[in-house]
Amino acid sequence: IHIVHVTAEMAPIAKVGGLGDVVTGLARACLSRGHKVNVFLPFYECINKQQIKNLELVNTYDSYYDGSWVSTNAYQGVVSGIPVIFVEPSNHFFKGQCVYGGSYNELEAYLFFSRACLEWMQVTGTQPDIIHVHEWQTGALPLLYWDMYHHLSLRIPKIALTIHNMEHYGECSKEQLSKCGLDGSIYATEEKAVDDRTIGHNPERISLLKGGIVYSNAVVTVSPTYLKETLCSGWLAGTLIRHREKYRGILNGIDTGMWNPATDIFLPAKFDALNIEEKKTCKHFVQRGLGLASGGHQMGSHAPDKVPLVVCITRLVPQKGLHLITHAIKYVKEISGQMVVLGRASDSRVEREFKDLADLHNNGSSIRILLTYSEELSHMLYAAADMVLVPSIYEPCGLAQLIGMRYGAVPVVRKTGGLADTVFDMDDQSQPEMANGFVFEGIDEASLNWALDRAFRYYCGKPNEWSAIVQKVMHIDSSWNNTAGKYIDLYNSIRVRE
Ligand code: ADP
Ligand code: GLC
Repeated sequence: IHIVHVTAEMAPIAKVGGLGDVVTGLARACLSRGHKVNVFLPFYECINKQQIKNLELVNTYDSYYDGSWVSTNAYQGVVSGIPVIFVEPSNHFFKGQCVYGGSYNELEAYLFFSRACLEWMQVTGTQPDIIHVHEWQTGALPLLYWDMYHHLSLRIPKIALTIHNMEHYGECSKEQLSKCGLDGSIYATEEKAVDDRTIGHNPERISLLKGGIVYSNAVVTVSPTYLKETLCSGWLAGTLIRHREKYRGILNGIDTGMWNPATDIFLPAKFDALNIEEKKTCKHFVQRGLGLASGGHQMGSHAPDKVPLVVCITRLVPQKGLHLITHAIKYVKEISGQMVVLGRASDSRVEREFKDLADLHNNGSSIRILLTYSEELSHMLYAAADMVLVPSIYEPCGLAQLIGMRYGAVPVVRKTGGLADTVFDMDDQSQPEMANGFVFEGIDEASLNWALDRAFRYYCGKPNEWSAIVQKVMHIDSSWNNTAGKYIDLYNSIRVRE
């Protein structure tokens, strides 16, 4: 099968969160199974070109935007073994220091990008079997395809959409939509009779994600529990129910080549499930590096040190349970643990709040709050951690708990979305064979305390059981081997067969 991903993120060159990881991991898994895969990515100015192999300009073509044609460069290069087409318009789109938040209109830039990718396929006569789009950013592509390109020469591709997060639905006006050449009335009439809340009656509030759902051949979200949650509540529940037959939940995997404590180039010492001793070296390295109290490294000792280290690696946004993260910082200190938060905020108020907390705690010996994005630090922290905290209010899938487990960090999570599908409580007697972490349900602080207390009790009071949990979580296979096959079945179910 020839699969083309059209995406706003790709790890490691343009990653903000899990979307980037998923695109790269799924693409690599499909490539290794013998399929042909390309990724289309905006050529963000912030991309470090050193990370791209064999970068070359392949052609310059015109793509439509707002009444005129914009000269656009298409570069080709290889990232993590995946052939990528970088789309670079000659206007101001995608310029700036970050993937998101540049000083251009993001919505219009992604509308442009969606069309520019189709235009490139048409100009070059590229006819993949599947165009796989992700999130609202490329949600207009299915509509553009069926409205304009399918009638011209692109007849083979079928479209799959993966929704990674339903919170962002790409709201735009009919006028904005028309800038990529779409007549907003197509949206306005589609489903008008049945649903007037989004793309129905209100030309000011068209949803690109809804357009993607309606016009894609298959729609996926990233865990079975999140699928159920999205069918029960939220703005697009009605649309998803009406398209239920083509909507499914496929749990994300992690790229176990990229996330492998036995080979990870960022770690001061490598380890795996059979040789966990060196995990302590990583812990002490991080403790020393950050100036946290360190128990010292006792060679040959299998007992955990006395002080558990909790890490939380996350975008600092409300979805992630900000009040629970700030509470955990205080509480972990109170119960004599250590905690490191590695997070980046996009909102200045949240940034301020965490800066204040950092000022308060960062001089002590037990808490570090690092307000930055660092791939390297994230690898070291997962390796150093005894526990990885994911207290999300909602979580479509969540990769932090999966990565954490691979690095021997036991997850402490709130029971929601993909967290509920991947972490099972140690004290739940109904399915002891699944138990691999500590789970709480409430969004209140006491619920979190209860889970942390239990995790600490195991860690400090039952060292043998703790070592067994660490072994167990490291053996769990969260690789794409487990789930890429589900995507391939899906591609096969919709593609045109000769
Ligand atoms: P989301 O996609 O909602 O952000 P996920 O758990 O699916 O959540 O994926 C988050 C990914 O981003 C993980 O790979 C995590 O390690 C990484 N990440 C999040 N924040 C940071 C940060 N500040 N520095 C480095 N990596 C981060
Ligand atoms: C989103 C979700 C996260 C998911 C990731 C990758 O950002 O918030 O739960 O793991 O996408 O699908």
